[in-house]
Amino acid sequence: MEINKIAVLGAGTMGMGIAWAVAGAGKKVVLYDIKQEIVDKTIERIGRGLAKAEEKGQAPAGAKDFVTANITGTADLKDLADVDFVIESVVENMDIKKQVYKDLGEILRPEVIVSSNTSSLSITEIAAAYRDPTKVVGMHFFNPAMVMALIEVIPAIQTADETVEAVMELSKAIGKKPIKVKEGPGFVVNRILIPGMNEAAFILMEGLASVEDIDKAMKLGAGWPMGPFTLCDMVGLDIGLEVCNVLFRETGDPKYRPAGILKQMVRAGWLGRKTGKGFYDYSKK
Ligand code: 3HC
Repeated sequence: MEINKIAVLGAGTMGMGIAWAVAGAGKKVVLYDIKQEIVDKTIERIGRGLAKAEEKGQAPAGAKDFVTANITGTADLKDLADVDFVIESVVENMDIKKQVYKDLGEILRPEVIVSSNTSSLSITEIAAAYRDPTKVVGMHFFNPAMVMALIEVIPAIQTADETVEAVMELSKAIGKKPIKVKEGPGFVVNRILIPGMNEAAFILMEGLASVEDIDKAMKLGAGWPMGPFTLCDMVGLDIGLEVCNVLFRETGDPKYRPAGILKQMVRAGWLGRKTGKGFYDYSKK
């Protein structure tokens, strides 16, 4: 089946970047979230981001008009009845995801593949909630999704081989570089990256160096494009903590226990850029 019209579910940070990336590759995107105002705000943010990227020469002239013309928004799941493919990026809560997959099962055409951008939940458990689990697969993007090239493609135990191949093909068609990964907590990137951020938080708690110097150390000493705390603020401390918790819970290995400071900051609502405060203060920027 040719895939031209793609639903992106969830208009948060990842949903925004995914919609941007997919629309930028010339596909029609229907961006869904539970409230129309959330969707409208996200489409506006994509427009503003593209205008800035055009100014900085990071996107070609005309990119803003091209991309935004390919995106429509809705808060009504029924509007997804005619899409060819789904990328689900709703909140990382299994009960909510299960309900979404159950509802999608009543709306989508039988041949449509439903992929999940979950960074921490079990694709197998998500797939079990869908009408046809052979059509469900993990499709994990990286933040900022319009820039980062990688997609991890993760089959659930129930996923059909054709589903995996179709997602590999689609990933290439939208200009990304996919790799296949078996299901395991954190897949590949988060299994390495998130414990790295968590270790940075332990180093901070031990008072070995400041936030700025730990970031500087990893940029200048290890060639990271951004330091662990800047990255954690961009990804969201809540997401980082959730991935740590999943790694810890699923493996039972104490090396993955989250740093106390991470838990405390999440409890305070200091989630990073999206709330204006994380390891750095963004309120005045
Ligand atoms: N098109 C549009 N926007 C672009 C762009 C492009 N080609 N390139 C950069 N931008 C945006 C950036 O997002 C940023 O937005 P902002 O103004 O809102 O902050 C802005 O332009 C500034 O970018 P820079 O000019 O500073 O661009 P850089 O060349 O420094 O690159 C970066 C920025 C690509 C984010 C780079 O620093 C990087 O690669 N960082 C590491 C990212 C990373 O590790 N991501 C993975 C996170 S883990 C994850 O997502 C998994 C999840 O499950 C937790």
